[in-house]
Amino acid sequence: MAERIGSSASSGRTESQSAALYATAQQWIPDGVSRATLLRRPNPIYVDHGKGAWVTDVDGNRYLDCNNNFTSIIVGHANPAIAEAVGAQLARGTAFALASNVEIELASLLCDRVESFELIRFCNSGTEAVMGALKAARAFTGRPNVIKVEGAYHGTYDHAEASLASDPTNWGDAAAPATVPYASGTPDSVIEEVGIIHFNDADGARAAIERQGDRLAAVLLDVMPSQVGLPTIEPEFVAAVREATREVGALLVLDEVISFRLGYSGAQTLLGIEPDITAVAKIIGGGFPVGGVAGREGPMSTFARTGGSRAKVPSGGTFTANPITMAAGLATMNQLDRAAFARLDEMGEAVRSGLRSAIERAGVDWQVTGRGSLFKVHPHTRHIRNYRNAHLSSDEAAEVERFEHAIQAGGVYLSGGGFGSLSLAMTDDDIAHLLAAAAAALADSAS
Ligand SMILES: Cc1ncc(COP(=O)(O)O)c(C=O)c1O
Repeated sequence: MAERIGSSASSGRTESQSAALYATAQQWIPDGVSRATLLRRPNPIYVDHGKGAWVTDVDGNRYLDCNNNFTSIIVGHANPAIAEAVGAQLARGTAFALASNVEIELASLLCDRVESFELIRFCNSGTEAVMGALKAARAFTGRPNVIKVEGAYHGTYDHAEASLASDPTNWGDAAAPATVPYASGTPDSVIEEVGIIHFNDADGARAAIERQGDRLAAVLLDVMPSQVGLPTIEPEFVAAVREATREVGALLVLDEVISFRLGYSGAQTLLGIEPDITAVAKIIGGGFPVGGVAGREGPMSTFARTGGSRAKVPSGGTFTANPITMAAGLATMNQLDRAAFARLDEMGEAVRSGLRSAIERAGVDWQVTGRGSLFKVHPHTRHIRNYRNAHLSSDEAAEVERFEHAIQAGGVYLSGGGFGSLSLAMTDDDIAHLLAAAAAALADSAS
C-alpha cells in the first residue's frame, strides 16, 4: 500500500477504502460504527495501523494523531514497553476469575501519586468510573441528588449526561440553567435528581448547592471540560464548590478522566483541589479499556463488604481489572515520570503559542484554549468562561468542521470540535508539522 501524508481520499472521494467499508458497515451496525464520535463527513476513517505519533488508514493516508483515541494514548501507538508487558501477559492468559498481582501494582502506583487517592477500585471505562463515583457518593451520604456543569461531558451514565448538549432553545434562563435530557427516554426521575450550574459561576454554584442542601449527594466536576471549550477554571469557583459541598455534607467528585494527563499527580494536585472521590480512566489503561474510582477511605469504603454483608455499592464485572489492562496501564504509568509531564507541557506551550501566531498571520478571529498536552481552537474571540460562551452557532460549527477537514487533508487527525491532544511519541518535527498544517487550514478559513 502506497502511503502519503494527509489526503482528501478518506474525507472526500467516495471510492476510498474507508468509504467502501463504511457502506458495508451500515448493513450490520446502526450508523455504521459502534462509537458515535468516530463519525465524520462523509465517512469515518478506517485505520490500518498506528506507530508512535502517527496513524495510517486503509487508504495509505498518514496522519499525525492529535486525537490519541480521545486523549487516552499518551506514549504513542505500539509503544515498545507496553507491547512487551502486554505480550508477556498475553502468553500467560488474558482474563481470569482470579485476582492478579498486577492490579495491586497499578493501584499502589496511583495511590502513591495522588494525595486524595487513599483507595482505588478499577472498572472498564470512564463512564463506569463516573457512575461508580456517583453511586458511592449517594451510598455514603444517603442522598439522591447530583449537580453538574452545563455542557460538561462525563460519559453516558444517565445522570452524568444531563445537559450535555443543551442549546439556546432549551438551556433556560442564565440564572436558572435547565436540566435537559440528552438521550431520548431518560426518565423524568433522573432529570429531577440532577441540578445544573455554569462552569466558573461561584455564586450560582454556591446557591445551587445550598438550595439542594440535604438532598445533595455530590457535585460532579471536570476542571477542564473539553465540551465547555477547555476553559481555565477560576479559583473562586472551585473554592465555592468545595466549601459549599462541605457545608451541606455533600461530596466533591472530580472527573479526571481526561485531566489526569495534565500532571504527574493529576490536575487536582496542580490546582490544589481536595476531592472526596475521583473518576479516572483513559491514560491509566495504556490503550486498553479502563476506569477507576479513587478517593478518601470513607466514601471508598462503600465498595467494601462490612461484617460479612454485601457492600453498599457492589461493583465488578467480567473484565474488571483484567491483567492485560493492568499490565498495559502499569507499563504506561511507569513511563510517565515528572520529566515526561514537563516534556508534554513544553510541547503543549509550543503548540498553543504556534497556533496563536498562525491565527494572527491568517488574520482570522479565532482563539486557542488549553493547558498541558491539551489544546482547542475556536472560531470566535468571546472570552470562554462557560458552556454558553463556548457554544458555537451553526455557522461557527461549520467553520470548525471546514478547518478539521483542511487540517486532516494536511495530515493531522484531531478529535472533533477543534480539540487535540499530544503524546510523548511526538518530536519537534511533528509539532512543526502540526503547526504548518494548522496554518494552511487557517489560511483556507480566511480566504
Ligand atoms: C471527562 C470525561 N469523562 C468521562 C468520559 C467517559 O469515558 P469512557 O469513554 O472511557 O467511558 C470521557 C470520555 O471521553 C471524558 O472525556
